[in-house]
Amino acid sequence: MTTLFIDGSSRSDGNTAALGERLLADIPHHTVHLAQTHLNFERDHRETTMPQLDESDDYLTIMAQFQAADNIVLGTPVYWYNMSGQLKVFIDRWFDSFTAGTSFANKRIFLLIVGADDPLHKAKPLIEQSIKLSCDWLKMTFMGTATLVADAPDDIRNLPSLPANAQALRQSLIMIED
Ligand SMILES: Cc1cc2nc3c(=O)[nH]c(=O)nc-3n(C[C@H](O)[C@H](O)[C@H](O)COP(=O)(O)O)c2cc1C
Repeated sequence: MTTLFIDGSSRSDGNTAALGERLLADIPHHTVHLAQTHLNFERDHRETTMPQLDESDDYLTIMAQFQAADNIVLGTPVYWYNMSGQLKVFIDRWFDSFTAGTSFANKRIFLLIVGADDPLHKAKPLIEQSIKLSCDWLKMTFMGTATLVADAPDDIRNLPSLPANAQALRQSLIMIED
């Protein structure tokens, strides 16, 4: 099994990154910090003669790792009660891969969310309306979410232990690995 952690935060050493690394401790994985990549906005070329493809940034390199992985851990801070722009742009670009015939089917999606303002309740639309529906559309398997309250950059790093929702998600990954 291969696991890829995609950190959608704008700070590569912040809470999202720390949550991913703590959740995946001792589980073999690769990490992509989107903040350290260059991604162009999605451009919809369906009504033109241009190919639905953009080779001028890091998208295809990230997708090569995505395609090689069985388990995809998407991590995002809450930005304005939604996912970060970094993660949204990456997900928008899945349309290019879909159009090119890339299969997303059976990828297992795990979602990590950190936010300052009651994210357990206020980030629910992000999970239900955005990630779950996108998984359904692309025939990926949504495996669950760990949502944690965090604001200052070391909040997650300083937690004595991960809360139950994150422990449960970690256990489901470990069980798949075995
Ligand atoms: C642009 C911006 C918008 C934010 N909007 C929200 C929000 O709507 N709800 C919330 O709970 N936290 C919000 N936050 C706080 C972050 O979610 C929080 O600080 C989180 O821990 C950051 O994760 P990181 O350390 O991985 O960057 C916002 C932070 C930024 C920078």
